[in-house]
Amino acid sequence: MTIHKIGVVGCGLMGGGIAQTCAQAGYETVVREINQPLLDKGITRIYDAWDTMERKGKLTAGQVAENRARLHGTLDLEDFADCDLVIEAVLENMEEKLRLFPALDHLLKPTALILSNTSSLNVTQMGAVTKRPDKVCGLHFFNPAPVMKLVEIVQTINTSEETVATVREFALSLGKMPVLAKDTAGFIVNFLLIPYLLAAIRMLEHGMASRDDIDTAMKLGCGYPMGPFTLLDYVGLDTTLWAAEAIYEEYKEPLYAPPPLLRRMVLSGMLGKKSGRGFYEY
Ligand code: 3HC
Repeated sequence: MTIHKIGVVGCGLMGGGIAQTCAQAGYETVVREINQPLLDKGITRIYDAWDTMERKGKLTAGQVAENRARLHGTLDLEDFADCDLVIEAVLENMEEKLRLFPALDHLLKPTALILSNTSSLNVTQMGAVTKRPDKVCGLHFFNPAPVMKLVEIVQTINTSEETVATVREFALSLGKMPVLAKDTAGFIVNFLLIPYLLAAIRMLEHGMASRDDIDTAMKLGCGYPMGPFTLLDYVGLDTTLWAAEAIYEEYKEPLYAPPPLLRRMVLSGMLGKKSGRGFYEY
């Protein structure tokens, strides 16, 4: 199957990064938001990233203009009608996804693939509310999506081998390295990353070391680009909480139980870098 046109649902941090990546790779890309201010904010973030890349000599002015011409913002899901592949990157809320998937199924052409960027929700359930579960799988990007090289392809018990092969080719065409994971909560990366991040929060709760020393320890001791608290703020404390809850829900392993401090920070609006305050202030 040949992919020409991509739809991305959601132009937040992840959806915007994914749309940017697709347009940069040469695909006609439509990205949809629920209202004009959110769409404008998302598109501006993408334009700013391209301007920075031009300043750094990574893109020419001509390439920036071509990228801009390939990227189309919309408020209307109907604009996805002729897309070959749609990537869902809305909030990590299953009810929202279970409304979206049948709507996409209804309006897309029969051959189109529907992918979810969910970080830990059940993709099988999303496929089950469509008439094309064989054409539904996960394609999980990492923040910042235009930079991070990995994508996880999440194969459900219904995703066909043909779909996996097409999505693998698509991922490679974006300059990403795909790995294949089964549809189990957390897939590969979050199954390993979330308990590490939660353990750092527990260390802080128990006064075992300071925030800065824990971050410095993991940066300089393990060569990680960011310490756990910097990464928590970067990924978003809400996103981390949702992922932890989804994995805990599936396995009931104490390792994945959200620490009280994380829940309280999210409840008080401390979401990390995006809200101006998390474990650090911005
Ligand atoms: N578009 C294009 N390029 C971008 C960009 C964007 N949106 N954002 C950053 N870049 C580029 C920068 O321009 C820079 O390019 P250069 O090296 O040519 O100058 C390069 O990426 C690195 O950025 P910076 O110089 O600003 O900063 P750093 O060198 O400190 O790198 C980082 C930033 C890449 C974020 C690095 O700190 C890192 O790898 N951190 C770890 C991130 C991580 O672990 N992400 C995964 C989180 S888990 C997840 O997302 C899953 C979810 O489900 C929870």
